[in-house]
This record gives sequence, C-alpha cells and structure tokens, in this order.
Amino acid sequence: MSAASQNTAVLALHGITKSYRTGDVVTPVLHGIDLSVQRGDYLALMGSSGSGKSTLMNLMGLLDRCDEGRLLLQGRDVSQLSTAEHAALRNREIGFVFQSFNLLKRMSVLDNVALPLIYAGKSRSVARARAQTLLTQVGLGELAKRMPNQLSGGQQQRVAIARSLANEAPLLLADEPTGNLDTQTTVEVLAILERLNREMGLTIVLVTHEPDVALQAKRLVRLKDGRVAFDGAPSEQAHL
Ligand SMILES: Nc1ncnc2c1ncn2[C@@H]1O[C@H](COP(=O)(O)OP(=O)(O)OP(=O)(O)O)[C@@H](O)[C@H]1O
Ligand SMILES: [Mg+2]
Repeated sequence: MSAASQNTAVLALHGITKSYRTGDVVTPVLHGIDLSVQRGDYLALMGSSGSGKSTLMNLMGLLDRCDEGRLLLQGRDVSQLSTAEHAALRNREIGFVFQSFNLLKRMSVLDNVALPLIYAGKSRSVARARAQTLLTQVGLGELAKRMPNQLSGGQQQRVAIARSLANEAPLLLADEPTGNLDTQTTVEVLAILERLNREMGLTIVLVTHEPDVALQAKRLVRLKDGRVAFDGAPSEQAHL
C-alpha cells in the first residue's frame, strides 16, 4: 500500500445535509456534517435519540443518499454514483453490524457468514471454509452448525461480526451493536471489536448510548440536533 493511500481518509464527509420527506412533511435531520474518518480510527458516535446518528450511519454505509454535500470513500467522491454502484461498493468496502443481529433464521451460523462470500462470487466450498475461519476468529468455531436461535444474543452478535468481516472490508459500521446485550456480553463483543481494530487495522464507526462502550473507542463524536457538537477524546465527554 502506498503512503498516499494510507493518508487518505477512509471516509470524508463535507457539508452533508439530509431531510426526510413523508407526504408534505419535511423533517430536517442533518444540517451540514463535516467529518473524516482515518484508516485505523475507532470512532464512537453518540447523541440523544433522534439526533441523527442512524441517519448519518446510513449515509456513511451508502444505504441512503444525502441531499447536499459530498461523501468520499477512500478518497473517491461516491455521492453521485448509481444505486447499483453503491451496492457493489458496499459489498466490497463496508461491513455492517446492527443492534438486532439480522441473521437469517433458516440458515446455519456457518451459512450466514458464508453468504456475503457467495454473493461476491465465491464457490460454496471456498465460502464455507472461510466462514469457518472467521467463526473461529470470533471464538465460535465449534458452533458453526447451529441455527441462529440456538445461540445467545452475544454469540449471535459475534456471528454478525464474523459475517461483516467476510469480504475483508476495511470499514465496519456498527449501529448500537451492544444495545441488546447484557453487561458481560457487551464486554465480550467490545473485546472482539478492539482486537480487530488493533490487530487488523479495521476502521470502526460505532453508534452507542452507553458511556462505557464509547470509552473503549479512540475518538468520540457527539451529534446534537443534526450537527457535530463534540469531536475528541472519549474520556472528555462520554459521561456527559
Ligand atoms: N425514514 C424516515 N422517515 C422520516 N423520518 C425519519 C426516518 N428515519 C428517521 N427519521 C427521523 O429523523 C430523525 C433522526 O432519526 P435517527 O434514526 O437518525 O436518530 P438516532 O440518533 O439514530 O436515534 P436513536 O438513538 O433513537 O436510534 C428523527 O426525528 C426520526 O424521527
Ligand atoms: Mg438510531
């Protein structure tokens, strides 16, 4: 990797605005967000309910479009690309983890993790072998044959993390990944994220309401009424 590409922000947002329209009602949510996320960052996104965290994550993940502004992914302006181009980029460049795990109920744990690889064109046997390796990495190698409902919440979230790593995307977006987990399980899931950030240089953006979760991150961004109200060390702000 060249020095230049190492210096390029994984994500850069410039003057991003977003409103939702429902019939005649317009709800402005984001009012000009400037934010850049560097390779190897581990950023916690906080803010009260309705402040626009998920809206911002959906834009970062190319799941939705902004009204104004520019979004650069690995230095490339992706704001104007087609929906199909966004989907292709998403598959390659971005892993997602959600509060509700979003595993497919009728598929084994192994096949859930293998699915993004099948979508990316890998054969079933190659996909399954890699899925087994990923499950081992998150400490679930032994449970690969189970169905998702035969796992605890924390184990299901670890499967979702393994799935998000399948295509070796450099960026992980996690929207309240510990929101449904108890304290002990939260600690386990955070330990995995911390290790992926430290050992593999995975760039992580994580939404949370929990100060203890934000304190694990390297950087805290707080949204207030659709604007960045704080950007700095978690220890300065996580408990406010
Ligand atoms: N699809 C939608 N259509 C209309 N309004 C929406 C839509 N999604 C979100 N909103 C509104 O946009 C605002 C921001 O929502 P968002 O989901 O980004 O908040 P959040 O910070 O993630 O909140 P929470 O902490 O509760 O998850 C809220 O006022 C919400 O009602
Ligand atoms: Mg949200």
